[in-house]
Amino acid sequence: MTLHAAVAGRPTPDGSPTPSGRRYLMCRPTYFAVEYAINPWMDPTGDVDPALAVRQWETLRQVYRDLGHTVEEIEPVPGLPDMVFAANGATVVDGRALAVQFRDPQRADEAPAYAHWLDRAGFEVHEAKHVNEGEGDILPVGDLLLAGTGFRTSHAAHAHLQEVFGRPVVTLRLVDPRFYHLDTALCVLDDRTVAYLPAAFSPGSQAVLRRLFPDAVLATESDARVLGLNAVSDGRHVVLPAQATGLSAALRDRGYDTIGVDMSELRKAGGGPKCCTLVLRDRPSEREREATK
Ligand code: ARG
Repeated sequence: MTLHAAVAGRPTPDGSPTPSGRRYLMCRPTYFAVEYAINPWMDPTGDVDPALAVRQWETLRQVYRDLGHTVEEIEPVPGLPDMVFAANGATVVDGRALAVQFRDPQRADEAPAYAHWLDRAGFEVHEAKHVNEGEGDILPVGDLLLAGTGFRTSHAAHAHLQEVFGRPVVTLRLVDPRFYHLDTALCVLDDRTVAYLPAAFSPGSQAVLRRLFPDAVLATESDARVLGLNAVSDGRHVVLPAQATGLSAALRDRGYDTIGVDMSELRKAGGGPKCCTLVLRDRPSEREREATK
């Protein structure tokens, strides 16, 4: 069986055959600010409107609720301005969570806060052994885990990931500092395909992506420049930055419903809707396992 067949023919890691009923973890941007620069989007001398950031985040939360998803919230911690980016809090698959280890000391204290929340919520939490920034760099698609490296998550973390989850890990090398996390360069659309910006990846990784996802939606530089790929899909609805009009049209052509949200304030820290969203993937129930056999 080719790898692509492995992607297409297996149950989704969400354990959910329907687009509704996903569980997301979010963190209100109560203490959001741009106080340091750990990616090229961040300018600590620039203006941020914290109240607008909160309103934009609340709109995103409402969009998820209106789509029928459950949004859980973790208490924001003062002094951790990037904690709103819940995708960096862990990787959660099959009821198991791999905790994170941030590259930058400014974000280090977010890791135990998220691990603690997940532990209390009943997930089996595994300690991080290497730098890994959670779902910022690790994206499940079908049976596979796509894992970015090059800026944040270390290559060593990819092997650990495979041990923890027992799923094949596909390493993808990011090469453009503006797209420093995998979820800024690639969006998983459903259990068989993705959208991505080819130029954000090394030539070898581009070839891997072409081989795995021959039907992928290819994003343009102008979509990526507004963090358009930092999108959240439930398999049918794609929530993406409103400014990514080209990508939205391309996705609609392919039959997805798109919902644009304005995340202008959080983008000043290099984040969009996906960064604000950690997918909590429970263990598939017996019935779902039967259904996907
Ligand atoms: N300022 C944050 C950082 O550079 C933004 C994180 C965005 N999160 C993401 N999943 N891409 O770490």
